[in-house]
Amino acid sequence: MSELLGGWKRTNRCAEVGASDVGKELLMMGWAGTWRNLGALIFIGLRDRSGVMQVVFDESTLPKEVFEAAETIRSEYAVAVKGILRRRAPEMVRRDMATGEFELEAKELKILSRAQTPPFYIDDNVNTQEQLRLKYRYLDLRRPRLQQIIMGRHRIAQIARNYYDAEGFLEIETPILSKSTPEGARDYLVPSRVHPGEFYALPQSPQQYKQLLMIAGFDRYFQIARCFRDEDLRADRQPEFTQIDVEMSFADEDDVMRVNEGFIARLLREYKGVEVKLPLRRMTWREAMDRYGSDKPDLRFGLELTDVSDAVRGSAFSAFEDALAGGGSVRAIRVPGGADKFARKRIDELAALAKTYRAKGLAWMSLKEEGLSCSFAKYLAPGQLDALLIKTGAQKGDAVFLVSDAKDAVVFASLGALRLELGRSLGLIDENRFELLWVTEFPLLEWDEEEQRFMAMHHPFTSPRDEDIDLLETDPGRVRAKAYDMVMNGNEIGGGSIRIHSAELQERMFKAIGFSREAAWDRFGYFMEAFKYGTPPHGGLAFGLDRIVMLLTGSISIREVIAFPKVQTAACLMTDAPGPVDQKQLDELHIGLARGE
Ligand code: AMO
Repeated sequence: MSELLGGWKRTNRCAEVGASDVGKELLMMGWAGTWRNLGALIFIGLRDRSGVMQVVFDESTLPKEVFEAAETIRSEYAVAVKGILRRRAPEMVRRDMATGEFELEAKELKILSRAQTPPFYIDDNVNTQEQLRLKYRYLDLRRPRLQQIIMGRHRIAQIARNYYDAEGFLEIETPILSKSTPEGARDYLVPSRVHPGEFYALPQSPQQYKQLLMIAGFDRYFQIARCFRDEDLRADRQPEFTQIDVEMSFADEDDVMRVNEGFIARLLREYKGVEVKLPLRRMTWREAMDRYGSDKPDLRFGLELTDVSDAVRGSAFSAFEDALAGGGSVRAIRVPGGADKFARKRIDELAALAKTYRAKGLAWMSLKEEGLSCSFAKYLAPGQLDALLIKTGAQKGDAVFLVSDAKDAVVFASLGALRLELGRSLGLIDENRFELLWVTEFPLLEWDEEEQRFMAMHHPFTSPRDEDIDLLETDPGRVRAKAYDMVMNGNEIGGGSIRIHSAELQERMFKAIGFSREAAWDRFGYFMEAFKYGTPPHGGLAFGLDRIVMLLTGSISIREVIAFPKVQTAACLMTDAPGPVDQKQLDELHIGLARGE
């Protein structure tokens, strides 16, 4: 190493210079991003993680061998340059570059490492296929934008560490080789060599461990924890992702929410210069669904939902009547000034969107200057149209979209998605705003059609609200939880709950989700046992670090903010993981593959 560098010591990173450095001899090391050979002058854009410095090699002033070496530099060569920092001539100043006023007049050069022609230009403007970029992720990561994101991620993690440390939280690691946890996704399993036929599960979250740390007396815990979930991937989901995981003892919902909203406020202040007013607004799950059709409402724009069931009840429109007879509802979104904004083709597209959320159709009306057009007016009884207009507040110039279904969940999901699409396509979303809220009082349980049983909506250690506990046996679907999600601009960035801390209530909970006493003890016995030895009331939350970084860096996909992400099929295109293994390894692990695999 020292031979290669020949005793050369870097004085600063490429963009870490200022006016006071002008005239000084500096030594920089980095990659030749761009190079231009103008015959007697060679310009190199020397790049490192701080930015780019223009380096000039001038044939008229340089020893021959230095200039000749400079002539051989190509894209992505790693080089070291000793030179004098000078101001560029006024007409050469580049306002779009942080270092655009300066350039380094090269005096000496060392080529540290040559590079093959890279498979794509390392340039933020280049539209290279993501597949190729992920195969050469280490080159993709050299792009200034990705460097900024990964450095931003580091900052955000540091702000979290500082904040929670100052609040008295201890950073404690928990196992990766662990036991299956019931977060609701499929587990990644790791076969045991020592215990034939047995498996570790990679943690879907450190949920049980952090609760056990509370029982162990650590009072306040946090961890920047890797979690693994084998679930269908989307733009905001990865099979392995990172949580800022938090748990605290002797705390109620208010305590947990206050500490954690304090973190987000600090983060937005330090990282974005945005002031968030605390305490954050809180909205019950019920209200969020009724008004926005979503448990993670984007509050940057209006277009709220209205329940118009009563206004249209008794019409001759079977879509509405069947929904109401089935115990569902008819709900509407009014688009102010939207009467002329939706051509037939656009309405068809919106209907297709609603149908992807299992809506049977999309009813609509348009209050145009020349009169009403409406997909269902002819079925309405006298007075119903007026009732509908009054209920939705629709006026001349507006458009209204309606969905009805026997299942409220379908109405909410489809209108919630429609609302977002309308907000986006009508340009109602101010991308520079940050709208945060807590969604509270989630249902504790939800009915699973496939399994024909109730499932924990969050996880089975979440406490029911005190006033609802006795509904556990009589009307489980109505029990509300001491659970809360933090939502930012329509994204769930964190979620948590107060936990059950009595063994007896925990058993009732397991029973409500169809676990017999034996099955619960079989799976979580070690956990339930721990509750017998003095359990402090406790609760916590986990933030999705990747999602937070994604939102704060304005990234469109979670893949951008993870150094080495996986693609939709959960594969890593760079390492080709997952991949086959030797028969010997399989034998050691006591694994036989089904034929043909
Ligand atoms: P939950 O499952 O809600 O809670 O997860 C917490 C937060 O983690 C993020 N998240 C994800 N991010 C990327 N990819 C994924 N596949 C993914 N899944 C979840 C979300 C989410 O809000 N143990 C509980 C927390 C607790 O109760 O304290 C838990 O894991 O931003």
